[in-house]
Amino acid sequence: MSTPVKKVPIHLQSSQTRLLIKNGKIVNENEITDGDIYIEDGVIKQLGRNLIIPGGTRTIDARGRYVMPGGIDPHTHFEFEFMGTKSVDDFYHGTKAAIAGGTTTIIDFAFPKPGESPLDAYHTYRLKADGKVCCDYGLHVCLTGWSDQVKKDMDLLCRDHGVNSFKLFMCYDFMVDDGELYSAFEHCKNLGAIAQVHAENGKIIIKNAEKLIAKGVTGPEGHEISRPEEVEAEAVNRACVIAKQVDCPLYIVHMMSAEAVEALQSHRNRYGGNVYGETLACALAIDGRQCRHECFAHAAGHILSPPLRSNAQTPTMLMKFLQADILQVTGSDNCTFNQSQKALGKNDFRKIPNGVNGVEDRMSVIWEKGVHAGIIDPSRFVAITSTNAAKIYNLFPRKGVIAVGSDADIVIWNANETRTISAKTHHQAVDFNVFEGMTCHGVPEYVIVNGRVCVDEGQLRVAEGHGRFIETPVFPPYVYDPEKYITLLTEHKNGTVEQNTQNFQKIHLEQ
Ligand code: URP
Ligand code: ZN
Ligand code: ZN
Ligand code: ZN
Repeated sequence: MSTPVKKVPIHLQSSQTRLLIKNGKIVNENEITDGDIYIEDGVIKQLGRNLIIPGGTRTIDARGRYVMPGGIDPHTHFEFEFMGTKSVDDFYHGTKAAIAGGTTTIIDFAFPKPGESPLDAYHTYRLKADGKVCCDYGLHVCLTGWSDQVKKDMDLLCRDHGVNSFKLFMCYDFMVDDGELYSAFEHCKNLGAIAQVHAENGKIIIKNAEKLIAKGVTGPEGHEISRPEEVEAEAVNRACVIAKQVDCPLYIVHMMSAEAVEALQSHRNRYGGNVYGETLACALAIDGRQCRHECFAHAAGHILSPPLRSNAQTPTMLMKFLQADILQVTGSDNCTFNQSQKALGKNDFRKIPNGVNGVEDRMSVIWEKGVHAGIIDPSRFVAITSTNAAKIYNLFPRKGVIAVGSDADIVIWNANETRTISAKTHHQAVDFNVFEGMTCHGVPEYVIVNGRVCVDEGQLRVAEGHGRFIETPVFPPYVYDPEKYITLLTEHKNGTVEQNTQNFQKIHLEQ
């Protein structure tokens, strides 16, 4: 049974949803143009100059601002029951914070509780999220083991439930072995789905951690020592090798180290293939020295897996990998725990709940460390914060682009303004912020979610439950048929998004 899709509320169908954004610099992944955007009923209807607009339409003057596709954060964990506790940002606070920062779509992970099937986990997450989300969202589904039942659930999730991506873990209590990875990847390939892995060698980590604890190293610093870069890189290489055997596209989530990215790139150089790499806002701004801080709450507040690296060059190297298209996507991995929850690991770093914030600050942090630092341009910023995720998860061109026919998910960005990040002022439920005190250029002055102005001259006005579950269809052309995809892009230059979407669907049906 598929969960019913929510109807668009009546008030959103009225003329209030008519909006004209004038005089902005419209940034897409491939070009920057000066122009106006006319929005009606949550969709971009016209683009260009001298548009003919109905009377009574609200106008926003975006002169001197960048007008960009809203961010897509493909990696969040709201209300996630994990490591004996539950992440504190729920689907309301999490999506509200996302919008405050310029993100208009999130993709979370449905994670099965012990004994729960992947399909039931999906329904559990729909029930948690549907009434709370302030922006559109999708779901990846985690596979914490392998069986015929899991395989059947994958079929149903792809066929009837709008899921096209499955995450497998190479560490934690619920890690799968190489044979299980092989079977899961093979099935993803058959279904036209994206296989995702958390790449760290779990067995090595257990041994290293046991030795450290036995030597009396119990504090947060033990976390990174037990999972060094090569432990991440080895798993990346192994996942790539296994995916190659069954010719399955692979997406490596949260890549945190230069060694791991080098493993990905060296596999790509040798064998080609569809392997994508995602890194995180925190990894682009902070390094692992924070985890050696004398204050436990501070150090533990920075613990996630794979860990922030003690090599202070890592954030810049990762940004350069994004610039060079060696990495393609940025997420937040927002998985937040209060200081009292982090204290579960006071006497044993293995028990510190893993996870940090980022859903609200990802866009500003990446602008600061990427665009303001002169490493990437605004178009690449759009690619790595929005468009590439839309393409990989088959949301493009509905999302990830400012084009006629696309959803009106838009951020109007003032690159000359600054803001200083703090847990005291953020919109998240958590009591800690890993970016505390960081001043970022790049402030979202207006954030438009499905045509609704949710950040209005800097003021946040969200509507709980206004977001929709967005289906992610299988066989994304960008991943599964890059040649046809390029032809379509060329056609798209002269056509409309609607035509293009039909083309995409035609390709999907031909598979
Ligand atoms: O430490 C992390 N990354 N926490 C969230 C769970 C995961 O592995 O993504
Ligand atoms: Zn169902
Ligand atoms: Zn993970
Ligand atoms: Zn995660």
